[in-house]
Amino acid sequence: MCYFISPFHFNVPFKLADYFPDRKKYFIEIGFGRGDFALYLAQNQQDVGYLGVEISSRSVLKLVRKLLKTKINNIKAIKIDAFMLFSIIEPAFSIDNIIFNFPDPWPGHPERRVSSKEHLLLIHRILKRDGSLYIATDADILKEDIEQNTKGLFSLEKSKMPYFTFQTKYEKRWILEKRDIIYYRLTPLPYAGKYPILAYKGDGNMAHVIFKLKDKMKDLDLPLPVRLRPLNDMIIIIQRPYKRVEEYLFPVLVKERGFVQKTFFRLYVRGDEARLILDDTGYLVVTEGIRKAMAYLRDMLLKMGHIEVIRDTT
Ligand SMILES: C[S@@+](CC[C@H](N)C(=O)[O-])C[C@H]1O[C@@H](n2cnc3c(N)ncnc32)[C@H](O)[C@@H]1O
Repeated sequence: MCYFISPFHFNVPFKLADYFPDRKKYFIEIGFGRGDFALYLAQNQQDVGYLGVEISSRSVLKLVRKLLKTKINNIKAIKIDAFMLFSIIEPAFSIDNIIFNFPDPWPGHPERRVSSKEHLLLIHRILKRDGSLYIATDADILKEDIEQNTKGLFSLEKSKMPYFTFQTKYEKRWILEKRDIIYYRLTPLPYAGKYPILAYKGDGNMAHVIFKLKDKMKDLDLPLPVRLRPLNDMIIIIQRPYKRVEEYLFPVLVKERGFVQKTFFRLYVRGDEARLILDDTGYLVVTEGIRKAMAYLRDMLLKMGHIEVIRDTT
């Protein structure tokens, strides 16, 4: 049984049904930490396909090692920024429950919190209309943020009693310290606005192109998907982009000597500039193939006219 979904081989778009074809419901846990809560819930809800999403290698390793000692078959772990993953989950409105126990409160970095407007919108897009987002927290800044940013987007239920019986590592710790824990259950309200794609947080110098727009950017109509063979031992596939508000996310696969990498290029507009960047620098190796793929997309965009390159580090 393979419990790990490799970020290099996962399917795009990401459909939970591909990984749990025989389950009726889908749960996602963000930041499962030691993974005991995930194991407990998945074991006790056999009709659920349970996806644990973590950015920490150690946590993924811990959970997979625990799972290997069981015969459980309705849970998988993926190492990726949860909000990046949410940008590419399809279909929309398909997840029953999303759970984040004791998210980091990120003092001084409100945009990183689970409760930032952007992250809440990413969650809203994939939750079933009768689904729920569960957040447990002791942190005052998170409590304030949740109450402020969910307005008009989620209806809010809060409780001093947990919704789940199993206590996580942080929960046990904060209970011992008698901290004031609040358990939130958020249910989506109707929303007619647009949904974002995760904002880029990586190192912009790795390989990017900045364009000057001569007038407002039109809707992109590029000849995609495309499969290129720029060198004998190199294959580049660029797929049709996902589109949100003035943003495009292009799935890209590059196969070259020693590497197979699946990644994303993001194109977004800011004022009279458009930027084409790598969306995930966490695990990507910026190879010749990645640079060639970006240069190819740059040339395609230039052919549309009305834009010129003002910076290019491909
Ligand atoms: C404070 S710990 C809580 C761990 C566990 N839920 C518990 O209650 O014991 C927060 C966890 O969230 C993970 N995390 C933070 N931001 C994340 C993100 N954007 N995507 C996935 N995991 C994330 C961290 O690696 C960490 O393991």
